[in-house]
Amino acid sequence: MLHKTLYFLAALSAIVAPTVAEVHGEGDEGTIMGPVAFLWPENRPWSAAEDNTAPCGSASGPTNRTDFPLIGGAVALSIADDAWNVEFRIAYGNDPKSQGDFQTFVSAKISEIEAGHQCYKAPTISTVASGSNATIQLEYWSNDSGRNESFFACADVTLVSATAFTESIPCFNVTASEFEAPQTTETVVSQPPEQTSTPVTAPADTGLTSGQKAGIAVGSIIGASLIIGIAAFFALRKRTQPADNEAAPYMAQTKAAHSVESVPRQ
Ligand SMILES: *[C@@H]1O[C@H](CO)[C@@H](O)[C@H](O)[C@H]1NC(C)=O
Ligand SMILES: *[C@@H]1O[C@H](CO)[C@@H](O)[C@H](O)[C@H]1NC(C)=O
Ligand SMILES: *[C@@H]1O[C@H](CO)[C@@H](O)[C@H](O)[C@H]1NC(C)=O
Ligand SMILES: *[C@@H]1O[C@H](CO)[C@@H](O)[C@H](O)[C@H]1NC(C)=O
Ligand SMILES: *[C@@H]1O[C@H](CO)[C@@H](O)[C@H](O)[C@H]1NC(C)=O
Repeated sequence: MLHKTLYFLAALSAIVAPTVAEVHGEGDEGTIMGPVAFLWPENRPWSAAEDNTAPCGSASGPTNRTDFPLIGGAVALSIADDAWNVEFRIAYGNDPKSQGDFQTFVSAKISEIEAGHQCYKAPTISTVASGSNATIQLEYWSNDSGRNESFFACADVTLVSATAFTESIPCFNVTASEFEAPQTTETVVSQPPEQTSTPVTAPADTGLTSGQKAGIAVGSIIGASLIIGIAAFFALRKRTQPADNEAAPYMAQTKAAHSVESVPRQ
């Protein structure tokens, strides 16, 4: 819970300090991720030499597993570059080795995605018991070096019952192109002490890559929803007081805030 709170504070501070959110952006393409990566559940470590190699695009085996609910799960992506023909598959077991171990997971036809974030609901898993391990595979096409190639990434999970699942999934859609960086330089919440990176002020509308904008978008969307939450809280607590004057213009700028959706725990 504390971790989550810090995450939200860090994300909120990203409204004026994109440094935090840039970890999901284009700046990291080719350093810690390929053109597309899982935002949630956690990716296996990325490696440039392996990312076109089926089934997992990684030099590592399964090590860190994320708890994934059997009911009400979702897969969220960080997208640094345009990609096509995105597919999610799942392999049940501890260490799938070949493409044949994987079967379709999310059936949605995803023919094209652009820089930003996308989240897709996962179907209910009824074939295996709580406590089983599985690996979720992401495959997509992207243009690395002038032509389309197939890319792979994997996230290793332990499937848990919905009641045992206590995390909240960062599930929202926002594209870099629909997002306009806020012009305000006002700090809404100060940087938490755990955040060691140096805050920088977002440049106006030039000099930001689409991935950086995507990163800012994430922080801002989360920040905006937090502001809305805070505003709602105070509105409920103090009905006689007007809404937060500082929050209002900011919320108006965040066009994509309506696409924030929390995945229900069932
Ligand atoms: C596993 O998670 C720990 C803690 O988050 C991290 O330090 C470590 O690098 C991760 N290992 C791999 C292989 O991802
Ligand atoms: C799931 O994987 C972990 C290691 O990643 C292992 O310790 C555990 O025994 C596995 N669970 C099952 C049911 O095989
Ligand atoms: C593919 O990427 C290369 C650089 O990596 C770029 O020059 C080219 O314009 C891209 N092609 C398309 C169709 O996006
Ligand atoms: C990759 O494939 C998609 C879908 O077929 C196509 O729209 C795109 O232009 C291709 N990109 C390159 C660089 O060939
Ligand atoms: C995100 O967009 C995709 C494709 O339009 C859709 O299937 C999915 O439900 C959306 N996710 C959320 C959280 O709105």
